[in-house]
Amino acid sequence: MHDKMKIIRHTEEMLQFCKQQRLNKLSVGFVPTMGALHDGHLELVRRSKVENDLCIVSVFVNPRQFNDKKDFNLYPTDLQKDIDLLNSVDCDVLFSPDTIDIFKDYSGYIMDFGGLDQVLEGEFRPGHFQGVVDIVYRLFFIIQPDNSYFGEKDYQQLQVIKRMNLIAGFQTKIVACPIVRERSGLAMSSRNKRLSETKLKYASRIYAIIEAYDESRLIEFSPEQAASKIKTEIDNTPFLKTEYVAFCEPNTLKSVYTFEKGSKIVMCIAVYCGKVRLIDNKVLQF
Ligand code: PAJ
Repeated sequence: MHDKMKIIRHTEEMLQFCKQQRLNKLSVGFVPTMGALHDGHLELVRRSKVENDLCIVSVFVNPRQFNDKKDFNLYPTDLQKDIDLLNSVDCDVLFSPDTIDIFKDYSGYIMDFGGLDQVLEGEFRPGHFQGVVDIVYRLFFIIQPDNSYFGEKDYQQLQVIKRMNLIAGFQTKIVACPIVRERSGLAMSSRNKRLSETKLKYASRIYAIIEAYDESRLIEFSPEQAASKIKTEIDNTPFLKTEYVAFCEPNTLKSVYTFEKGSKIVMCIAVYCGKVRLIDNKVLQF
């Protein structure tokens, strides 16, 4: 552990700093986050540390990606704790701008989502992915990282970012990292901090249920039947209410209508635990 992490608050300074790293021929790994860091985030940082000369983490709670203002206001923030955690994994640079600074003279990045913004999270959180693309485009432009690290926890976001990266022509490589889970199986999330101990216990049922439906069991059903069975099991758990359970083609996230042998399919789910919205997914290989 070192306490030498450089903290940059302003976009102009970040632009200059990153330009200098390129002149020095240092490779840069980048981990964008919204803070309230946990081990899922720290895994991305560890991976970035191994694969690059320098690791930059951004902490910015991006208002543009919250379709629900209440969710934005309740989003947990604790910058000092984030700084301590980042120091504990030897992060080199923290970029934590404010909204006015990062979005100054920038209205956003318009692109064709190819339908990715119409399904799943896109359907239930209108405007969410446009907000994500706006900030990630801006951050990639400022930092110009060699490698950028994203979690498979936000599976659809990962596909959106890959598409944006391709269309915008950034030189960064998108590195997908596996979901990090609590011992209970619950996917780590900043939003878990809003759950009581009792609710946390019930929320971990989500993973138990999706694990119980492995490929050999699923193949006995159609995707529609399987989704309905899983939904019923989740909804029969106290505090849990499913928003969607969907079986999708892994890149386009379009619904699939059969479990074909040899096919790769991703199961995506969104569940409310009380007032807290949680997402999870599992890649299946039939
Ligand atoms: P945030 O939710 O803070 O997540 C930052 C990164 O950490 C994302 O790539 C996310 O997929 C990853 N992550 C979160 N929980 C994880 C877990 N349990 N296992 C593995 N990876 C995990 O995603 C965002 O922020 C924002 O949308 C952002 C990309 C920063 C744009 O504002």
